[in-house]
Amino acid sequence: MAAASPLDAFVKGTKAWFADAEEGWMQGTMNASSISDKAVKLTFTLESGKDISFESTMDKLIGSKFADLPPLKNPPMLEGIDDLSNLSYLHEPAVLHNVKLRYSQQQIYTYSGIVLIAMNPFAKLDLYSPDVMREYSGKRRGELEPHLFAVAEEAYRALIRNGKNQSVIVSGESGAGKTVSAKFIMRYFAIVDDLDKKATISKTSEIEEAVLATNPILESFGNAKTTRNDNSSRFGKYIEIIFSKGKNVKITGAKIRTYLLERSRLIYQPATERNYHIFYQMCAAVPAAEKKQLGLGKWSDYFYLTQGNTGTIPGTDDAAEFAITQQSLSTCGISVSNQWDIFKVCAALLHLGNIKISGTSDAQISDDDSALEQACSLLGIEKSDFKKWIIKKQIITRSEKIVTNINASQAGTVRDSVAKFIYSMLFDWLVKIINKNLIKDDDPSAQFIGVLDIFGFEHFKKNSFEQFCINYANEKLQQEFNQHVFKLDQEEYVKEKISWSFIDFNDNQPCIDLIEGKLGILDLLDEESRLPSGADKSLITKYYQRFGVPTQKFFEKPRFGQTAFTIKHYAVDVTYEIDGFIDKNKDTVSDEHLACLNASKMPLLTEICIIEAPAEPAVDTKLGRAPTSRAPKKPTLGSIFKQSLVSLMSTLRSTEVHYIRCLKPNMAKVSFGFEPQMVLAQLRACGVLETIRISCAGYPSRWTFQEFADRYFLLVKSNAWAVDPKELTKSIVTAVITKDDLYQIGITKIFFRAGQLAFLEKRRSEKLRECVILIQKNMKRHIYSSQYDQMKKAAVSIQTAFRGYRARKMYKEEREKRAVTKLQAAFRRHLAQSQYQKSLNAVLYMQSLLRTAKNKKTLVSARRNAAAIRIQKVFRGSQERKLYKVQQGQIVLLQACIRKRKAVAELKHLKAESKSVGKLKEVNYKLESKVVELSQAVKSRAEEVDALLEKVSQLESNLASWKEKFTRVDQGTKGNADKLAEANSNLKAELDASETSKNALQKENDRINNLLKKKDAEIETLTAESTKYKEESIKYKEEMLKLREDIKTNIGRPSAVAVPSAASTPEATAGVVGGEDPAIAAALRKEIASLREQMSRLIAGKWTRDRVADSLLAVSNAESAAASARPTVGSSMNQHMQMEVQAAIAARPRPVSVNDFAVPLERGSRISMMSKRSSTQELPPDYDSTSNADRILNVLQDKALEDEIIDSLVTNLRIPLPSTQTVATRKEIFFPAHLVGICMTQLLRNNLGVRMQLLLPNAMNAIQNLTMKFEDDYVSAFWLSNCFELLCVVRTIQEREAREQQRRRMQGLQNDLDSANPEKALEQIRSDLDILLMDIYHGWIKELKKRLANMIVPAVIENQSLPGYICKQSGGIWGKWGKSATSSQFTIEQLLNFLSKLSKTMRCYYMEDSMTRQILTELLRVIGVSAFNHILVRKNFCTWKRGVQIQYNVSRLEEWCTTHGIAEATLHLQQLLQAAKLLTLNKTSPQDIETIFDVCFLLNPTQIKKLLSLYYAADFDSPLSPELLKIVANRAMLNEKSDTLLLDLDLAPDFTKPSTRPVEYIDRFIPAWISLPNIAIIASNN
Ligand SMILES: Nc1ncnc2c1ncn2[C@@H]1O[C@H](COP(=O)(O)OP(=O)(O)O)[C@@H](O)[C@H]1O
Ligand SMILES: [Mg+2]
Repeated sequence: MAAASPLDAFVKGTKAWFADAEEGWMQGTMNASSISDKAVKLTFTLESGKDISFESTMDKLIGSKFADLPPLKNPPMLEGIDDLSNLSYLHEPAVLHNVKLRYSQQQIYTYSGIVLIAMNPFAKLDLYSPDVMREYSGKRRGELEPHLFAVAEEAYRALIRNGKNQSVIVSGESGAGKTVSAKFIMRYFAIVDDLDKKATISKTSEIEEAVLATNPILESFGNAKTTRNDNSSRFGKYIEIIFSKGKNVKITGAKIRTYLLERSRLIYQPATERNYHIFYQMCAAVPAAEKKQLGLGKWSDYFYLTQGNTGTIPGTDDAAEFAITQQSLSTCGISVSNQWDIFKVCAALLHLGNIKISGTSDAQISDDDSALEQACSLLGIEKSDFKKWIIKKQIITRSEKIVTNINASQAGTVRDSVAKFIYSMLFDWLVKIINKNLIKDDDPSAQFIGVLDIFGFEHFKKNSFEQFCINYANEKLQQEFNQHVFKLDQEEYVKEKISWSFIDFNDNQPCIDLIEGKLGILDLLDEESRLPSGADKSLITKYYQRFGVPTQKFFEKPRFGQTAFTIKHYAVDVTYEIDGFIDKNKDTVSDEHLACLNASKMPLLTEICIIEAPAEPAVDTKLGRAPTSRAPKKPTLGSIFKQSLVSLMSTLRSTEVHYIRCLKPNMAKVSFGFEPQMVLAQLRACGVLETIRISCAGYPSRWTFQEFADRYFLLVKSNAWAVDPKELTKSIVTAVITKDDLYQIGITKIFFRAGQLAFLEKRRSEKLRECVILIQKNMKRHIYSSQYDQMKKAAVSIQTAFRGYRARKMYKEEREKRAVTKLQAAFRRHLAQSQYQKSLNAVLYMQSLLRTAKNKKTLVSARRNAAAIRIQKVFRGSQERKLYKVQQGQIVLLQACIRKRKAVAELKHLKAESKSVGKLKEVNYKLESKVVELSQAVKSRAEEVDALLEKVSQLESNLASWKEKFTRVDQGTKGNADKLAEANSNLKAELDASETSKNALQKENDRINNLLKKKDAEIETLTAESTKYKEESIKYKEEMLKLREDIKTNIGRPSAVAVPSAASTPEATAGVVGGEDPAIAAALRKEIASLREQMSRLIAGKWTRDRVADSLLAVSNAESAAASARPTVGSSMNQHMQMEVQAAIAARPRPVSVNDFAVPLERGSRISMMSKRSSTQELPPDYDSTSNADRILNVLQDKALEDEIIDSLVTNLRIPLPSTQTVATRKEIFFPAHLVGICMTQLLRNNLGVRMQLLLPNAMNAIQNLTMKFEDDYVSAFWLSNCFELLCVVRTIQEREAREQQRRRMQGLQNDLDSANPEKALEQIRSDLDILLMDIYHGWIKELKKRLANMIVPAVIENQSLPGYICKQSGGIWGKWGKSATSSQFTIEQLLNFLSKLSKTMRCYYMEDSMTRQILTELLRVIGVSAFNHILVRKNFCTWKRGVQIQYNVSRLEEWCTTHGIAEATLHLQQLLQAAKLLTLNKTSPQDIETIFDVCFLLNPTQIKKLLSLYYAADFDSPLSPELLKIVANRAMLNEKSDTLLLDLDLAPDFTKPSTRPVEYIDRFIPAWISLPNIAIIASNN
C-alpha cells in the first residue's frame, strides 16, 4: 500500500461535513473529484440538494497537514454512540451530530469521556423515579445508559471505596438545567443508602430532609425569573454533602457555600424578568392580617418589583411556593419568629424602594414619606438618621468631617446600595443559619461529596463586571478540567506503558494570569477602587497602557471607543464594558448607614449586619469574627471573589472531580427543540470541544485487545488468527495500518490516533463487502449454471419432440403414398383382368363356335356310321338267332336223354331208402316237441302282456286321481303360502332369542351356584372361626374376671373411697394402688395393658370381618347391636373401639351422664359420646374428677407449661425437614398447632380463659421472633402453615364453645362464670393470629424477594441458553471507563430450582393452596417487573439475539408456572415477554411499528419508545431509522405525562388470607423425638 494520505479517504460516496449558517454543519456526499499533483477539487452534494466543491492546491494541503480538508463523517457503527470520546473522527460536526441525534431520540445524556453532557429536555421525563435510582445503584458507569445517577453513583462508590472526598461540578448556561441536575444528584445521595439495601425506599431521615430543604430556601431568596430561565439561580452554590465514615455510610450533614449573589437584581430587572421569588411569594401568600402589619400590598405596588413588568410566571403558583419556603425554613431550624423577622426585612426593602427622592440639585425626601416611615419602623431604625444619610454624604479628611448634599440620582444610588447591602447580608445570614443547622457535629475527618452548581460561561451583547467574574471563575474551572482530563489520559498512557511524547494543548494559564496575576486586571481594579477619585475612565486607560502590548495575547483593545476591553477566553472572546466596574467592585454602604443599621431595635437586623463588619474575604472565615475589628482596607468584591475562588479551587483539587455539562438546546424552551448554532456555542463554551482537542492530540481511541480482535479479526487471513488477542491485534494492525505512529500497543489496550478507527471500520466494511460479493458471485454462478442445464435439457426435449413429430408426419405421408399405389395397382389389375377376361371369353366363344361346327360334322358322320352298324347288327343278329334255335333244340333233346337215364338211377336208390321208416319218425318227434315248446312260449308271452296291460291301466287311473288331487292341493296352498312364510320366520326368531337367553341364564345360574357354593364354604369357615374367637373371647373374659377377682382378693381395698362395683378400671385401681406398692401395680398395669391390646386387636379383627358378612353382626347382646348400628369408621377410631370393648366387657348398662364432658366433635360424635359413656361407666365419677382434673389443673396453671410451649414447641423445635424420601403426614407437620389447640381446649374447659390470653400471645411472639430471623425457608414455611392451622383450630374451638353455650342455655344450666369471656378471648386470639400470619407472610416474602433480587437479571436477562444465539456480553467496545461485567452467573435453571424448591417446601408443609399461589405469584411478579425494568435501562444490550434469549428464558418460566399449576402468574411475565418480542420483531417500515404496537399492547408508548431507542443493531441488522423513531416519539408524546417508564416494583397485591376451615379432629399426636411432659399430660387427658 502506498503511504496513506488523508486524501485517500475521499472517494466517491464519502460523506463529509460542511459548515452551514443555520444547521451548524451539513452533511455532503462526494460525487466527483479531480486530484492532480497540483490542484485538488472535490465536489459534494449537500443534504439540502445543493452542490458544493472544495478546491485547494496540494502544496497548501501539505502545508496545513491536510487539516483544511472537510471533516469526515464517522462510520455508521458510531452513529448515536453514547460516549463522544469513542468517535473516531473527533471534531465539531461529529460531536454536534451525535448529540443532536441522541437528543432527537430523547436521550438527553451523553458521555464525553469523563464528562456527562446533559441536554435540557424542557419536558418532564420519567427518568428520575426511585425505580430508576435503584437500577443505577451499584452499577458501574458504562454498564447502563448515560445518566446523572451514573455519575452520582460513581462519586458515591468512590467515596465509600477510597474514602476520598468527591465533587460533582455542574455547569452550563442559565436555563441549561444545572440546578435541576444538582437537585436530582442530591436526592440520589439522600436515598442511595436505602437503595443499597435493595429494600423498598423508606422515608428519608431528618438530616436528609434538611439537606433537601435547603433547595427551596435558596431558590426563593436567590432565584428569579429571567428571560432565559423561569427559575434562574442568581448565585453560585457549592454544597458539600457530608457522609459518615465507616460501614454504614449515611448523610450526616451538609455545608453550603454561595458565590456572587446578583445584588443588582434587587433594584433593577430587565423587561420580562422578575426580582427574587421571595418578594412575589410574600405578596401573593401572606395572610391579610400579617400583610397589614408589614404594610404589604400587591406586587405591582413596588418599584423594585415592577421594572420588568412581570409579576407571575405561567405554571408557577407563588402562594404554594411560599408555603414550601416556609416549611423548608422550619425544616432548616429557623423559628417562626425569625421567619417573621426575615419577612419583615424583605417587606422593608420593598418599602425602601418606594421612597421618593425629589429635588433637582440637592436631593430631598419628604418627612411624611409613608414608604420611609414603613421601612424604618419595620427595620426598627432611626428614621431621621437614615433619611439624612440618604440625601447627604460625609467625607472624612485628615482633619475634619465634611457633610455635603448630594443630588437626587446619587441619593437614589445610596438608597439602592443600602437595600442591596441588606439583602445580600440577609442571604449570607440565611446560608449561615442553614449551615449551622446542617452541620450537627463538626467532624473534620468526615468525608463529603460536593456539588457545585455554578453559572457557566456568559457572553452577552453587553458584558459587565458580573460577567467578568463569572467568566473568570469558568476560566479557572476549565483549567482545572483540562488538567484533570490531561492527567487521566497521561495516567492511562503511563499505565499501559506506551511511548508517547507530551502533547501541548492550549493552556489557558496566561489568560488566568492576565486576570488574577500580580498587577493583573483585578489588581488594577482594586487599586483604582481604593482611590477616592477612582473612576472607570482612568481604569480603562490603565488597562490599555498595561495590557495593550503585543506580548499580551489574551487582551485586546477594541478598535473603536475607549470604554471597553476584550479578553480572549478559552471559549470565545468577550468584550466587557468598563462602565460600573469600580462601583460594583466597591459595593459598600457608608459607615453612617452601617452604624444606623447596627443601632436597629430589631435583633435580626443587627445580627445580619454584624457579620459584615469583619468582612474577611474567604467565606468560611466569615463566621464567628468579632464585630468590632474593622480592617483598615475594605475588601472589594473582586478580591472577595478571587479569594473564595482560590479556596474553592483548593477544595476541588483535594477531591475527585466529576463533571456534568448542561446544555440548553433552544432559546424558546421548547421541549426537544434543537438549535444547532446555540448548542455549538455551548459545546465550545463548556470546554467539551476543548477537551476533545486535547484527546485528539494523543491517542483518543483505545480498545482492549479482546474487543479489537473480536471486531477486526476478519481483516487478516484466517491462518493468522491467533488465540492470544494481543498477538492477533498486532497482526491486524501491522497488516492494515502502515504508519507505525498511528497506533501504539499498550499492555492491555491498543491506542489509535484520531480517525484510525474510522479507517479500520471502513476496511472492515470493505472486507465484509468483498466477502458478500464472493458469496453472491458463487451463488449467482450456481444459479446460472443450473439454469443453463435446465434450458439445455428443455431444448433437447423440444427438439426430440419436434423430430418425432416430423418423422411421424413423413411416415404418414409415405404410408398414404403406398396405399394410393396399392389402390391404383389393384384398380389397374382389375381393369386389365376384366379386359383380358373379355378377350378370353371372345376367343373361347369363337373357338367353341368353330369346334361346334366341326364336331357337328363329325357327329353326323358318326351317326350314319352307327345306323349302318345297327342295321348290320340287327340283320346279323337274326341270322345268328335262327342258327342258335336249331342248336338249342338239339342240346335239349340230348340233355333229356341223359337226365332220363339219371332219374331212372335215382329212382332205383330212393326205392331202397324208403325201406328205413324209423328214421323218419325220429325226425318227426323232434319237430313236434319243437312246436310244443314254441307254442308254450307264445302262451306265456301273451299272459305276460296281459298282466302288463292291466298294470298299465291301473297306473293310468292312479295317475289321473293323483293329478286331480294335486290340482286341488295346489290351489289351497297358493293362498296360505305367504302367511305361513311370515309366521314361520317370526317363530324362528323367537326361538333363537329364547335359546340364547336360555343359554345365558344357564350360565348365570351356574355361576351363581358356584358362588353360592363358595360363599357357603366361606360362611362356614367364618362361623367356625367366629365361634372359635367367641370361645376365646369368653375364655379371656373369664380370665380377666378371674384376674380382677385375684387383684381384689390379693390387694384388698385399702382406699377410703367406696368403689361400687368390682369392675373399676385398671387405671383407677392402679392409681389407688400406686401409693402402696408401685412395683406390683406397674406390673399389673402393664399386663392389663397388654391384655387390652390383645382384646382390641381381636375386636378390630372382628370389626373388619363384620363388613364382609352382615349376618355375623346379629349377635344377640346389646353391645354388638350397637356396634352393628354405627357407621363405618376408619382405623383412626381404634382408640374409641378399645374403650367400647371395655364397655362391652363390663356389660353393665348405666344411665349415660354427659354433663362433665365436652360435646364431642361433629363427625364421629357418636363414637366419642360412647367412649365417654364407657369411661364413665368404668370410672367412678367422683374419683376421676378429683385426681385427674386436679393434675391437669396443676399442669395448666403451672408456668412450666408456658415455658414448654415457647421453648420446646416453638423456639427450639426441630422442624421436620421436607425430604424426598419420607413425606411427613399432616399430623407430623401440624402437631404444634394441634397441641396448642388442645391446651386451649383444656384451659377453656377449666375456666382458665385468662391464662390462655396470657399464654397464646407469648407463644405467638415466640413464633414471630423465630420467623423474623429468616434463617431458613423451612422455618417460615413451617410456621406459616402451622399458624394457619392454628387459626383453623381456634375457629373450631370457638364454634364448639358456642355450641356448648347454646346447649347449656337450652338445658337451663346457668353458667356460673361469665360466659362472654372465653368467646372474647378467642376472638382476640384469632385476630392476633391473623396479624401474625400476615407478618410471617410479609416478612418471608420480603426475604425471598431480597434473595431473588440478585438472581433475576443474570438468570432471566443475561442467561443465554440457546447456543445458536449467543451474543457478546455488553460493555463491549464502549466500556472505556468501566470494565465489562463479570456478574455472578446465575442461570435460569438455578432460578427455576429456587422456585421449585420453594414450592416443594410449601407443599411438604401442607401450606394452604391459595397461600402457596400468592407467594409464588408475587415472586414471579417481582421477576417480571425487575427484569423488565432492567432491560429499559441497560445499554447496548437490546439486540435481536438477546430478544430471542430472553423469550426463551421467559418461556421456561411460563412452563414452570403451568406445570406448577399457577398459570395465572404468567400474566406478570407478559410485559417482559412483549419487550423481548419487540426486540425480535421487524423494525424497518411504519407498518412494522404498527405491528409492534399491536403485539406489545401491554407496553405503553413511552416504554416502546425507550426500547426502540435502546435497540442496538448488530452487524447487518439495519439500525432503526430516525424517521421511525420520530413516529414512535410522536405516538409516545400523546400520553407522555401519564405514562411511566418503569414498572412499580413495590406494587404488590395485598395478602388475602385463605378462609379458615373447621378442623375435623384435633390431634393429640406428639412426635416421639420431642419431649413435652406437660403437654403430654394434657393431651392424654383430652
Ligand atoms: N432534567 C430535566 N428534566 C426536565 N426539565 C428540566 C431538566 N433540566 C432542566 N429542566 C427545565 O429547565 C429549566 C431550567 O433549569 P435550571 O436547572 O433551573 O437551569 P439552570 O440552573 O441551569 O439555570 C427548569 O425549570 C426545568 O423546567
Ligand atoms: Mg440554576
